[in-house]
Amino acid sequence: MSLSVKHLLGIKDLLPSDIELILKTAEKFKEVLQRPIKKVPTLRDTSIVNLFFENSTRTRISFELAEKRLSADTINFAASGSSVSKGETLIDTAKNILSMKVDMVVMRHSATGAPHFLANHINASIVNAGDGINEHPTQALLDAFSMTEKLGNLKGKKIAIIGDIMHSRVALSNIYCLTKLGAEVIVCGPPTLIPKHIETLGVKVSYDVRKTLEWCDVANVLRIQLERQNKPLFSSLREYSMYYGISRSLLDSVKKDIVIMHPGPINRGVELSSDVADSKQSIILDQVENGVAVRMAVLYLLAGKKDNLI
Ligand code: CP
Repeated sequence: MSLSVKHLLGIKDLLPSDIELILKTAEKFKEVLQRPIKKVPTLRDTSIVNLFFENSTRTRISFELAEKRLSADTINFAASGSSVSKGETLIDTAKNILSMKVDMVVMRHSATGAPHFLANHINASIVNAGDGINEHPTQALLDAFSMTEKLGNLKGKKIAIIGDIMHSRVALSNIYCLTKLGAEVIVCGPPTLIPKHIETLGVKVSYDVRKTLEWCDVANVLRIQLERQNKPLFSSLREYSMYYGISRSLLDSVKKDIVIMHPGPINRGVELSSDVADSKQSIILDQVENGVAVRMAVLYLLAGKKDNLI
């Protein structure tokens, strides 16, 4: 079994069978990660560069750990402190690194489409670790993996994505991933944070967080991305929190055991209160844990190794 794509640029490009293959492979790697020795020789002869042009905590560490668990040689590149600050272009940076015989590139960039642009200019496989407001495919895959662990097969399951849908690459990748897996998806937030015509992607729209919570099995709550909003799209964080934040009292009043997720980083007290984020209903840290196994699966499958994965 192999993927239908050479790069992982977005979930949009994947077939449902690709997503299922990645999730099945991740299950095997999750089992590896429970062992006393959490390392396999699978990518022993593979070099991977992590090109991060934008800040990250979870994704960068998770990819690096996944690569190390697979015994790949890893190189970490951060734009700050590199020759990018002297004016070197993205393509020149990548070509220089790849001339040192690097096989795969994991890339985060604030510009939408940056990994797609690079994929047209270099031969190595590229994994998009988040590009602008476009996609964050491995986040959607680890979200789907975590939901499946809680709920089983996602076909027909009701998933709400709540918050800043407009500026969220996690929202778009989740929508593609969940609809391809047969889940029902609703997006919920203030009208100014929901893109026009989003229904064409096969999702429902709600502006009422209580009704959304009453409907859903899972609430994937997203961060308010103030850094991407160049003009105010709601009056204040306090008002946002009052109308769209998930508090303990709101969740209790819904009287339903909803699974709470968040890709991180959380603005505590804005989109989620701390007692919800840290509650038994929350699987936020499971998402982070599962990210390593999912990224191992993606790297393994893109590397196209024929050997047994473990
Ligand atoms: N979820 C996520 O992408 O977090 P980081 O920005 O910390 O990588």
